[in-house]
Amino acid sequence: MNLPLALIATRARAQRVTVLTGAGVSAESGVPTFRDAQTGLWAQFRPEELATPGAFRRNPRLVWEWYAWRRQLVAGVQPNPAHHALAELERRVPQFTLITQNVDGLHQRAGSRAVVELHGNITRTKCFEEDTLVETWPETSEVPPRCPRCGGLLRPDVVWFEESLPAAALALAHERSAACDVFLSIGTSTVVYPAAELPFHALASGATVVEINPQPTPLTAKAEYVLAGAAGEVLPELVAAIELFRHG
Ligand code: OAD
Repeated sequence: MNLPLALIATRARAQRVTVLTGAGVSAESGVPTFRDAQTGLWAQFRPEELATPGAFRRNPRLVWEWYAWRRQLVAGVQPNPAHHALAELERRVPQFTLITQNVDGLHQRAGSRAVVELHGNITRTKCFEEDTLVETWPETSEVPPRCPRCGGLLRPDVVWFEESLPAAALALAHERSAACDVFLSIGTSTVVYPAAELPFHALASGATVVEINPQPTPLTAKAEYVLAGAAGEVLPELVAAIELFRHG
């Protein structure tokens, strides 16, 4: 991709970089996104039937098994060059914050350390009643399994629709979006709030906002740079170009 030199120069000088990622970053690992017409999860399943507290109360087995299927899928894939490029950027930028809407844990598996998980993580399990994490539970044929402490049903540690995001993660995400030199919005349809307001917060604070997405989103018209390509191709190129710019 033909990267604008001004963007490379700005990115190379940036001391504070904040990144927001969505499902598009994991697409090249083989993890379905949500709203892509053919392959998106919401094209095949209805979120109201799977990703809400009400859905879980109505049919806990269905919801648990759907997340067990997604957990198994994620366990079977690898981080892609987009994840690795972001882990590389973190090592080169004085203040780098990676905010993700993804629950697949692939950023951490690629070596990213400062990951702000806005929507939780599918590899963690918590008690539906106590809302506390549960590491182990007695093997049983019951689905979902039960909390060893209170006997409540277990559920994935992810944020469902109608639920609040983890307050500390959201506060940090707002803080780092409003105080950065460059904000990269990567692989997100920018339609689910409050995550979707973060790039606009960065814009309002004067950051250089860059969107990386093969499709347009509500941010596209406002971003200073729009790199309309796949994250797994664009990000490694951007990291290489910045390195070249810095060290000639
Ligand atoms: P979406 O499925 O809504 O959007 C995925 C975005 O990634 C789209 O804009 C695609 O164009 C783009 N995309 C696809 N392949 C890409 C690639 N190779 N490189 C870059 N971009 C690519 O997923 P999210 O925006 O992450 O929330 O969805 C946000 C939230 O809605 C999710 O966290 C989830 C969902 O409902 C909850 O479940 C609470």
